[in-house]
Amino acid sequence: MINPPYYADDHRYDGEMKYERCGRSGILLPRISLGLWHNFGDVNTLANSRDMLHFAFDNGITCFDLANNYGPSYGSAEETFGLVMKSSFKPYRDEMIITTKAGHDMWPGPYGNWCSRKYLFASLHQSLRRMNLDYVDIFYSHRFDPETPMEETLQALVDIVRQGKALYVGISQWPYEASQFAYEYLAAHDTPCLIYQGRYNMIDRAKEHEGIVRQAAENGVGFTAFSPLEQGILTNRYLNGIPAGSRASIGKFLTPDKITPELVGKLQRLQAVAERRGQTLAEMSLSWLLKDKFVTSVIVGASSVGQLRDSLGCLKNLSFSHDELKEIDNILFA
Ligand SMILES: NC(=O)c1ccc[n+]([C@@H]2O[C@H](COP(=O)([O-])OP(=O)(O)OC[C@H]3O[C@@H](n4cnc5c(N)ncnc54)[C@H](OP(=O)(O)O)[C@@H]3O)[C@@H](O)[C@H]2O)c1
Repeated sequence: MINPPYYADDHRYDGEMKYERCGRSGILLPRISLGLWHNFGDVNTLANSRDMLHFAFDNGITCFDLANNYGPSYGSAEETFGLVMKSSFKPYRDEMIITTKAGHDMWPGPYGNWCSRKYLFASLHQSLRRMNLDYVDIFYSHRFDPETPMEETLQALVDIVRQGKALYVGISQWPYEASQFAYEYLAAHDTPCLIYQGRYNMIDRAKEHEGIVRQAAENGVGFTAFSPLEQGILTNRYLNGIPAGSRASIGKFLTPDKITPELVGKLQRLQAVAERRGQTLAEMSLSWLLKDKFVTSVIVGASSVGQLRDSLGCLKNLSFSHDELKEIDNILFA
């Protein structure tokens, strides 16, 4: 049967979604963005991917986070997004912040990886074709390249903006000192860095400890947290074993050995805290990140509309008492 045409929900901006200014910029980002790293590839069901994208946009999620190599196979998450762009999202393009990245392994040979000018430009051209777009809103250097001069990578980002292929640029997973260099270089070339994308959640606090979260704020740069649910660990997904089809059952980026009895014990105690707050564990984990303004947006992943609905619920309660924060830290780190 032919799918009915998509009309976005008229009330998409009347619900729970909140928008936060991204650093010192004109852009407001939804506090929850949707990431397409997993579950949007050509191994997944197009209908489910499309339903999640529609549900997200219908609920005020205006930011969609992609990268050249998301799939599997590489490029196929962008192709899925491109299909949905063509079939339903096109009339709403100006309501969306669409991002992509380059920096990881993408195609064979010396020009399909890391952060040379050659790779960044070629990759972005490919991404635009796959996604049926004329431009992306944010183009990221996906990781720091210790071999390529930073000036080459950063000037490529500047030129990508000057050519209108991206409106803004960001960096992802760059270390502290290189990030400072990037912020200063980009600002001096009239292309201020919009956003830093880093791994950050209740369990993994490295970006906080390294000073990177605060550094972004001090430089007028937004911060967006990826894997905010620690790939599903900070939800009820693994409280009763490893369900078939879950990320840990696939075992590539999250391996079953990570789900130890000790970890499950901690998750059960966290779940009790969440219940007292009237939240699910997923909701509490996202609220914890969004409780203050250091984190502009969290980029959630999902394998179903139900998970996404659960995650959106976090916005109803973003405040924590001092005792709750202490209890969470004690459970995780004492
Ligand atoms: N810049 C970078 O280097 C980088 C790296 C990684 C990710 N990212 C970005 O960040 C995005 C999110 O990363 P992530 O997918 O690791 O995020 P995540 O939100 O930590 O994990 C998502 C996974 O958690 C499970 N889940 C989500 N909501 C749930 C709920 N309410 N209840 C139970 N389980 C739930 C699902 O696992 P199942 O699939 O098992 O159902 C889902 O696939 C990516 O899509 C990508 O855009 C960027």
